Amino acid sequence: MSENALFAPLPEFSRQAHVSSLDAYRALCAKAEQEPEAFWAEQAERELHWFEKWNHVFEWNPPFVKWFVGAKTNAAYNCLDRHLETRADKPAILFEGEPGDRRTLTYRQLHSEVCRFANVLKSRGLKAGDRAIIYMPMIPEAVVAMLSCARLGVTHSVVFGGFSAEALKARIQDLDATLVLTADGGWRRGKEVRLKDAVDEALKDCPGVKNVIVAQRTKGQVNMTAGRDHWWHELEAGVSDDCPAVHLDSEHPLFVLYTSGTTGKPKGILHTTGGYMTFVVSTMKWVFDLKEDDVYWCSADIGWVTGHSYIVYGPLAAGATCVMYEGAPDYPAWDRWWQIIAREKVTILYTSPTAIRALIKQGDSWPNQHDLSSLRLLGSVGEPINPAAWEWYHRVIGKGRCPIVDTWWQTETGGILIAPMPGAIALKPGSGTFPMPGVLADVVDFSGSPVNDGAEGFLIIKRPWPSMIRTIWGDPQRFEQQYFSRIPGIYFTGDAARRDKDGYLWILGRVDDVMNVSGHRLSTMEVESALVRHPAVAEAAVVGKPHEITGQAVCCFVTLKKDVSSNHHDLAQDLRKWVAHEIGAFARPEEIRFTEALPKTRSGKIMRRLLREIVTSHTVTGDVTTLEDLGVVTKLAAQHDED
Ligand code: WT7
Repeated sequence: MSENALFAPLPEFSRQAHVSSLDAYRALCAKAEQEPEAFWAEQAERELHWFEKWNHVFEWNPPFVKWFVGAKTNAAYNCLDRHLETRADKPAILFEGEPGDRRTLTYRQLHSEVCRFANVLKSRGLKAGDRAIIYMPMIPEAVVAMLSCARLGVTHSVVFGGFSAEALKARIQDLDATLVLTADGGWRRGKEVRLKDAVDEALKDCPGVKNVIVAQRTKGQVNMTAGRDHWWHELEAGVSDDCPAVHLDSEHPLFVLYTSGTTGKPKGILHTTGGYMTFVVSTMKWVFDLKEDDVYWCSADIGWVTGHSYIVYGPLAAGATCVMYEGAPDYPAWDRWWQIIAREKVTILYTSPTAIRALIKQGDSWPNQHDLSSLRLLGSVGEPINPAAWEWYHRVIGKGRCPIVDTWWQTETGGILIAPMPGAIALKPGSGTFPMPGVLADVVDFSGSPVNDGAEGFLIIKRPWPSMIRTIWGDPQRFEQQYFSRIPGIYFTGDAARRDKDGYLWILGRVDDVMNVSGHRLSTMEVESALVRHPAVAEAAVVGKPHEITGQAVCCFVTLKKDVSSNHHDLAQDLRKWVAHEIGAFARPEEIRFTEALPKTRSGKIMRRLLREIVTSHTVTGDVTTLEDLGVVTKLAAQHDED
């Protein structure tokens, strides 16, 4: 498929769409650009409930922004209470556990669960401004946990269940959390993921945590520390489900989500309430064209930002019916997803290129055994989607009828910034197409000047949008330095991009030392720091290596301490395990290469660029004039041929 392949919206799709023509899209953008205050005020008023209105729509003191200044609202109220008049008996969550258990929660039931659990939190002394860690499997209680916190103004930080005890501990400490919400475990490929054990391990060094509340999922054996640990169902027994939502400031911290930066220390990305909610609910309609009778399924985990914005806050604020699935796509067989889609009559599916590539590999017979005719829209997120994956997704899953929305955004952006509005924009496979209204994206060079169409440059956003990151938790300096210092006052995405002759944006990947493994961000430095904590390792350099399924895979160059004598095969295994233990299973290196030395500049910096070239093209062509020891590179490049 060439870059010029163009898929115009089908007339029957456009006819029913929220935004049904290119002109309509352009009109939204013009209004948002020329009158941002009026535009966003209108969105906020139409899509959300406010206990008190704002004095100003936004205040911009770069790098700090406030939206709906002075207003009072509540995210949980907007996801639940607001629907009780019109959608009380509509399913909010269609849950399916990996073992096959199913549960439907209507908006009324979800509201009642959230109120009851919020009362439990209140009775444990939790209040607005406190912080909670959520470390849970993909079960409805995880959503209840998030919304209960939001109802009271307790700022939550969800830690993906695939993170290790070490990673969990670092997040609890950075956030000074006093509460941990978890479960005994969750199901993944028929095995129990033992979450409570990891919590126990992490809490050895977290004296600030006063309460641990444990949902019962797997019924596995767990240890409960008296006075600190409580069973969710025991605390909840007999508790009232009447719990008014706290009227919170629009800028009240809703959640912190940790993501990898270019250092070993993850960044706590802070999102607040009013602006975030306005933006995520707006994009549900613009990008997913959400309608009252849609059955929407986002296959992400709530531990990532996609789960926050497009499983919980966006869809529920929009009153959607959401499918939630606990487990793996290949359990018990590779048609699990297609079974769910056929049974629940899913109309919108939002997933990642990595998942699509893994599914392609299993052949068309899996999806072809099931009736997928309910689908009307497909989405992709997390990494660029390659033409082959796009074509298969479009043809085999969408039967050529369903537009694919390729959505570009980041943990920091809170919601989708670049994506097609499917009734309005002709698609080009692999391009995120155009920005959302009010999102002024540009492609620039080092000095901040726009580059010509067709040329590569840095992707920047020139004006704050409502769901923009507010700060890095506890580190406003790092916030400014990371995002607003390259070009002062302008948001720097860290991605390279290109705009083609038709104005379409193509995202080319990161320009920093951040890898993207299965659509999950991972810092090279984080893995390096983990490796050098191992007693046998002297030095390590980590780069992302192209991978057929996961996009990139972790490739480590390791030098060993002088006296280490164990055989390389065993040690490589040991180091893989070590990284999984230090960070989480998803960070487990694909490849460990032992080397006598690493290529460095004269000032001692590891030249990751060269290592990247070695794993990508197996040769070195770039500038090596500042290289300390050219012999090292020649050897490393040659090593591949020996393997
Ligand atoms: C990075 C953000 C957004 C939620 C999931 C990842 C890459 C994301 C796309 C896309 C090309 C993409 C970027 C971005 N990325 N979506 N549609 N096309 N690249 O969130 O962990 O914060 O990672 O993922 O490089 O900067 P994240």
